[in-house]
Amino acid sequence: MSDHAKLTYKDHSVDIPVVVGSEGEIGLDLGAAKLRDQTGMVSLDVAFKHTASTQSAVTFLDGANGILRYRGYAIEDLAERCSFLEVCYLLLRGELPDATQLDGYRRELNRHTLLHEDLKRFFDAFPKDAHPMGILSAAMAALSTFYQDGDTEDPKAVELDIYRLLAKLPTAAAFAYKKSQGQPFIYPDNSLRYPANFLRMMFSFPTEEWLADDDICNALDTLLILHADHEQNCSTSAVRLVGSGHAPLYACVSAGISALWGPRHGGANQAVLVMLEEVRRAGGNVKKAIEKAKDKSDPFRLMGFGHRVYRNFDPRAKILKSKADMVLNKLGVHDPLLEIAKELEEVALADPYFVDRRLYPNVDFYSGIIYRALGIPTDMMTVMFAMGRLPGWIAHWKEMREQGQPIGRPRQIYTGPNHRAFIPLNER
Ligand code: SDX
Repeated sequence: MSDHAKLTYKDHSVDIPVVVGSEGEIGLDLGAAKLRDQTGMVSLDVAFKHTASTQSAVTFLDGANGILRYRGYAIEDLAERCSFLEVCYLLLRGELPDATQLDGYRRELNRHTLLHEDLKRFFDAFPKDAHPMGILSAAMAALSTFYQDGDTEDPKAVELDIYRLLAKLPTAAAFAYKKSQGQPFIYPDNSLRYPANFLRMMFSFPTEEWLADDDICNALDTLLILHADHEQNCSTSAVRLVGSGHAPLYACVSAGISALWGPRHGGANQAVLVMLEEVRRAGGNVKKAIEKAKDKSDPFRLMGFGHRVYRNFDPRAKILKSKADMVLNKLGVHDPLLEIAKELEEVALADPYFVDRRLYPNVDFYSGIIYRALGIPTDMMTVMFAMGRLPGWIAHWKEMREQGQPIGRPRQIYTGPNHRAFIPLNER
């Protein structure tokens, strides 16, 4: 028999089964204990700081020791030795592909890289200065109107939707950028690898030959891998919640993009660059930014620092810090923002405020600097995060649907007025 914890309150007592994960995490299964049915009580955990929303076999994260693994594989190995497409396959299918499987996967994706010409016309209607995350979220939701065959109960239809999403999101992302520049859209070239194809759609013109540099493609592959999944974060939870109501997968992904957009989540990569640029313009005084971040009367927080789960180095930030030097050197780019970021990190990590709260750089701290060296404009950086996170969102959505999870619907503790006598309008 499995272990139980006992909860006692006044004359209520309930046995709560204990669930133990494969890496030893322990959870109290309030659902299996039928806590509310048995006692009339619910658990209260604002912002889910102490709540596991599911059991999942996709990604393992140990925040105390700075460990991250996709399907059991260390992020360091995947980032160093895989392509993004291999990682997509791994997250979505549970195993790394062999060469034949990978080739077949690439061929399937290549059948879906184009956007419907009518959807392409949507891009013309957005304002020139529209944020590309808004455009991307709208474009993914709009896919559901073009592909109404997306039956989320049918594994074959789901597989087709997944191919379409993985193949079309980069095209939509590049179109969003081209729109902002007033430049002609560039159609995908299926002879190219995933990152090379995306970069060509971003930066080439119909008037001339253009091929992305191999170093740049490899750096982009690594960044996308580092973004590919992070268990039950805000945007993945949004995808799952929307998906639990059985909305089309395209609409779930659109919700994930919206959730990722904010500066507390994926939007922090854009906010980091804005912050570093401000520090540079103000003469490079990092101490001033740190004092501002510590001031509780000021809403400013050190962007790219802190994490809900990591109380240690985010392993992705470590990889990115070492990559940043390498990529910038290879590309011959000197970016003063990299020096400012390193100094900011050093000063923060020696400051008791950050030490006591165990606040370390997260994935967003160095990623923007690398994207900038690759030529990605600041307001496209969160779009890059979304492109990387897409397989993770879908893997969790798929797992949830395969587990047959009921609709997600939290309870609340009501704190408003008790019943009041109604007063007609003419008597108020
Ligand atoms: C991502 O969840 C994921 O997995 C997300 C992600 C993924 O891959 O999906 O890893 C991607 O979203 C990374 C995070 C990007 N956001 C930022 O870089 C924005 C800056 N960071 C913070 O806003 C904050 O650290 C969060 C939002 C990331 C985490 O918020 P928590 O978990 O609610 O933070 P906390 O309450 O545990 O903070 C503890 C203390 C508080 O101070 P006290 O009230 O105890 O005095 O630390 C302070 C916070 O005010 N604090 C900061 C700070 N982050 C936390 N103080 C200054 N600067 C900061 N950045």
